[in-house]
Amino acid sequence: MKATARAHTNIALIKYWGKRDESLFLPMNNSLSITLDKFHTTTAVEFCPCLPVDLFIMNNQLASSTEMARITHFLDRVRGMSGKSWHAVVHSTNNFPTAAGFASSASGYAALAAASTKAIGLDLGNKALSQLARLGSGSACRSIYGGYVEWQKGEKNDGTDSFAKPVLEGGDWDLSIVSVLVTDTPKTVSSREGMKRTVETSPFYSGWLDSVEADFLHAKEALIHHDFELLGSIIESNALKMHATTLGANPPFMYWNSATLDVIKEVQSLRSGGIQAYFTIDAGPNVKVLCQPKDEQAVRESLEKLPNVQNTYLCHPGPGLTYL
Ligand code: DP6
Repeated sequence: MKATARAHTNIALIKYWGKRDESLFLPMNNSLSITLDKFHTTTAVEFCPCLPVDLFIMNNQLASSTEMARITHFLDRVRGMSGKSWHAVVHSTNNFPTAAGFASSASGYAALAAASTKAIGLDLGNKALSQLARLGSGSACRSIYGGYVEWQKGEKNDGTDSFAKPVLEGGDWDLSIVSVLVTDTPKTVSSREGMKRTVETSPFYSGWLDSVEADFLHAKEALIHHDFELLGSIIESNALKMHATTLGANPPFMYWNSATLDVIKEVQSLRSGGIQAYFTIDAGPNVKVLCQPKDEQAVRESLEKLPNVQNTYLCHPGPGLTYL
C-alpha cells in the first residue's frame, strides 16, 4: 500500500486572506494563483499494519512533534474516508530550501492528499483531491492543478462547494515570475495566525472584503483576455490591500522588511523605464515579480543588482499533480 505523488507550489495573484471556518479551511473570498514550474514537493506514503503510529520524514529528517501531529490529523481524515485504520510512513522532499521563502505547505498538502489516498486504495478525482488538500492548508487546494487556477470560496457550511479549478492552462499564456529572495529567516507570524488576527481585529479587514471580489473578477477577465497590464495592476493593488490589513491588526504586524521595499521601488522604476513588471507578496518579506518572457532577463538583472537581494529564481507556469 504505497504511492508517490508530486505537486508544485503556487503563488497567489488574488490572495486568500481570512477564513469563515477555521477547522474546514473555508475562505472568506475567492482567490487566483499560478502554479510554478520550478518548485515542487515529492511525497511517498506507505500504509502498514505493522506501524503503531504515523512517521513523517521531511527532507530526510524526522519531523518535529508539531509537524507530526498535523500530518496525523490529516491522515486521520484519509483513514476515515477509506474505513482503514493503518498508520503510515510519509517521506516528503522539497526541491527547494524549506526556509527559502516559498510556500511549502501548498505543494506539501497537495502531494500528501494525492499520495495518501492512492496508497490507501481510494481513487479520488481532482475535485475531491482539491477539497481534501484544502483541509491541510487552504492554498494547497490550488496546487492540484497546473497553470492558472481559481479557488471558489463556496457558500455551504460543510465545504463541499469550496475547491479549486483551472482557469487557463500554463501553455495558453506563458508569463514569467521572478521570485526574489530577500531573506530566508522564518517569519514570526504564520499566514494562519496572521489571517486570523486580521479577521478578528483589523478595522481594515472590511475594506479587504469590500474590494476583493471585484479584484478577483477583473483579474480573471484579464487572464482570459491575456491583458497583461490590467492583470499586473490588479494583482499589485490586491497584494498591497492584503498587507495593509495587517497594519490595522491588534497587535499590528508587517511581513515586509526594508529589502522588500527596495524591490517594490525597483519594480516601479522598471515600469517608469517602459518595462512592464508587477509585484506580489505573500505572507512573508520575499517578492514575486510578474513580467512577460521578453522582459524576464532585464527584470532579473535589475533586481539582482539590489544589494539586499540574496537570490532570484526564474519561474513559469508549471504542471498539476503527477504520480510517480
Ligand atoms: C498570503 O494556505 O498558508 O499566501 O490555510 O492557514 O494553511 P492556511 O494558510 P495558507 O495561507 C496562504 C496565504 C497567502 C495567500 C494565498 O496563498 O492565497
